Amino acid sequence: MVVHEPVEREFLTRLDHIAPHGLGLSVDVYSPDLGSLLGMLRQRQVFPDYLEVFRASPQALATVKAHAGGCPLPYHGEGLWLTEAGACEAPLFRQEVRETARHLSILGSAWLTHECATKFIAGYSFGTYVPPLYTREGAAVVAENALAVQAIVDHDCCLASGGAPLLLLEMPPLTYFVAGTIPIPTFFRMITDTVPCGLVLDVGHVWTVFRYSGAWRTMDLHQFVGEFIEAFPLHRVVQIHVAGLDIHESERERHTVRLSDGTIGGQDGNDYSPLPALVDTHGAPIPSFLFEILDQILADPRLTNLRGLALEVDTKPIPLIAQEFAAFKERYAGVCSRMWPANRSSLKGQKKEGAIADNRLCCSHEAVASAYEQYARVLAGQAEPNGADWTGSTAYHEELDRYRLVYLPYEILSWGGDVRAMFPRSCKRLDERGLSLEAFVSFWLSHPRPIDGPYDFFLVKIVKFVEFVSQVAPDLIEMTHEEAKELRLAYDHANAVPAPA
Ligand SMILES: [Fe+2]
Repeated sequence: MVVHEPVEREFLTRLDHIAPHGLGLSVDVYSPDLGSLLGMLRQRQVFPDYLEVFRASPQALATVKAHAGGCPLPYHGEGLWLTEAGACEAPLFRQEVRETARHLSILGSAWLTHECATKFIAGYSFGTYVPPLYTREGAAVVAENALAVQAIVDHDCCLASGGAPLLLLEMPPLTYFVAGTIPIPTFFRMITDTVPCGLVLDVGHVWTVFRYSGAWRTMDLHQFVGEFIEAFPLHRVVQIHVAGLDIHESERERHTVRLSDGTIGGQDGNDYSPLPALVDTHGAPIPSFLFEILDQILADPRLTNLRGLALEVDTKPIPLIAQEFAAFKERYAGVCSRMWPANRSSLKGQKKEGAIADNRLCCSHEAVASAYEQYARVLAGQAEPNGADWTGSTAYHEELDRYRLVYLPYEILSWGGDVRAMFPRSCKRLDERGLSLEAFVSFWLSHPRPIDGPYDFFLVKIVKFVEFVSQVAPDLIEMTHEEAKELRLAYDHANAVPAPA
């Protein structure tokens, strides 16, 4: 692929179909209950200008649309692994994109936000997003897949204003580590140089880059943010997210501290960093230092194409959402009314040159797939963090064991489904035989397996546990199968529940 001005023009042409959305909320249909949330916001007269709706069933999305009263409903997709080499040629991926396009049409969404990250690599399954390998080849793969996603959306969807919903790639958070050979802003610039997509800049994610890239060792937060946004393709940022940060629940037993802004954070008692080991946590209060970062970003004159500013509040208690959104509206209403009248798409001040020097993104799918497999093996504790992806100045693995030994085992045993609660009878029998669930974690991490349907961590957990029992206690497998069947029925039932009116 070759970078040239038409990519920029195409982005701006696409953006012209997207009106400013204002101050919104990024929500889940069920968590918390959307009807109750909107009821409280109406009552407090702090209704959002838009709702970015997280992936749900078509029926649930249709219900939301029917009750939205004209409120714009952009979409937050899930399950498209844009980092996977060759994904865009895989039938399952294309089927998932078409399903996503269907959801966009139901909601009439002007954009599709999707994390530029993955939960499944080479048979290894993760509960929460794993960031990309930040390499030139990794960027080439994302660019190729992003173009394919946009092409399917273009084919299947049409906005009332003309054009099609725009793909927005969100820079994911870091959770204790980062791997790769190029800086994160460079990675996204390489993508936007070849793909006419927009971006979502999540302010909390930016903080995690400060924390888990090791940048805190050489500069303060203000300087870091300045340098980060200087290098980041800020003119492609169409939406900004702000969400909570917290010590992860897997570390919660370790002692807690009160942060300078009064919120509770944790300190794990080690000497990695003077900063607490906070991670992206949508259910947690938003620390005030994130709004200082947001102010710094909003003051940057290169932020010319912003269309929306949202608090991400899925899994957050409703009273806290109402309180935070009221304060958010008060603080940013003036900023937005100043920004949007003048915020017309324009090439003014942007790159006018044709092809740039290092504009060719090429990669071997096999080489990228192999690098990702090695990456997953490192995260699973099956290999050590050696090689260029882990040893250069843009990598950070001092706290990798926090992920490998605490966070990931917690995901496998507790996050998105507690194994003991899911399989009580099987676990009891395993306990009686002295077979610990730590052995299940080891089994999970040492037995990668392919997936032949849409990714769902809860369902992966069921399949993996049945496999585990069939290996360590084959005489119990009938009981485990029964429990698995009950779980699948409960899962289907839960997904059939209509959305709140
Ligand atoms: Fe986000």
